[in-house]
Amino acid sequence: MDPWNPTQYDKFRREREQPFFDLLTLIKPAPGLRAVDLGCGTGALTALLHARLQARETVGIDRSARMLEAAMRHDRPAGLRFALGTIEAFDGRHEYDVIFSNAAFHWIDDHAALIPRLSAALTPGGQLAFQVPAMHDDPSHTVAEELTTAEPFREAFGGWHRPQPVLTPDGYARLLDRAGFTEQHVRLVVYPHVLEGPESVVDWMKGTLLTEYERHLPPELFARFVDDYRAHLLARLDRTRPFFFPFTRILCWGRR
Ligand SMILES: C[S@@+](CC[C@H](N)C(=O)[O-])C[C@H]1O[C@@H](n2cnc3c(N)ncnc32)[C@H](O)[C@@H]1O
Repeated sequence: MDPWNPTQYDKFRREREQPFFDLLTLIKPAPGLRAVDLGCGTGALTALLHARLQARETVGIDRSARMLEAAMRHDRPAGLRFALGTIEAFDGRHEYDVIFSNAAFHWIDDHAALIPRLSAALTPGGQLAFQVPAMHDDPSHTVAEELTTAEPFREAFGGWHRPQPVLTPDGYARLLDRAGFTEQHVRLVVYPHVLEGPESVVDWMKGTLLTEYERHLPPELFARFVDDYRAHLLARLDRTRPFFFPFTRILCWGRR
């Protein structure tokens, strides 16, 4: 089942784009780069990455056919292509000059194994740049997790919990160092978002976080899950409008 919905996901595009640009500026330009964008989604940002790097070749990889269909609809400049695939299955031997990933690695388990695997796919001097949300302690995330232990969801989830693989910034710094990155830049950034109201948080999470829960529930129960999520979350959030929503991200860059 593929719960990613490009329309729902694109609703908060403007809010999500700033970390992408901040990540992009960490990459050192060089001629004729070969780049890959892991978890490229609808591909709009992959096209920007390709243009900004003036890359010789960029491939956007995503496991969601629906997201990639949206990617295929854009006009594609020379050298940019998209492929269906998973980050888990991605590997390579010194093939890429840039491995990029914006807001996708938090869906992947075991970053301690992921970073060395990506490092091995880079050319000498190759760069890895990725960004992950660090929101797991925020009510927008803890409320969903709490509901997995409440009936009727507990039984339907059958003991499943959303994995939380995101490490601390210093954890990533250590991993980059151990994986052979001789230069690095890791930082935690709080992006201030002003949303219409607390309901907007529910809407935002429907396009991202809640898709993971959707994968594990029958459709009618997922609708109830979203209703309960909304009720519990709104009870916890400040109701001031416009609504201030700080979104915390970890930006990581390393060069071999
Ligand atoms: C939050 S979106 C980010 C999309 C894009 N990078 C952006 O910044 O707009 C996460 C994307 O990662 C993809 N994704 C999640 N897990 C994946 C995996 N294991 N392998 C490949 N793609 C994955 C999803 O299908 C989704 O398109």
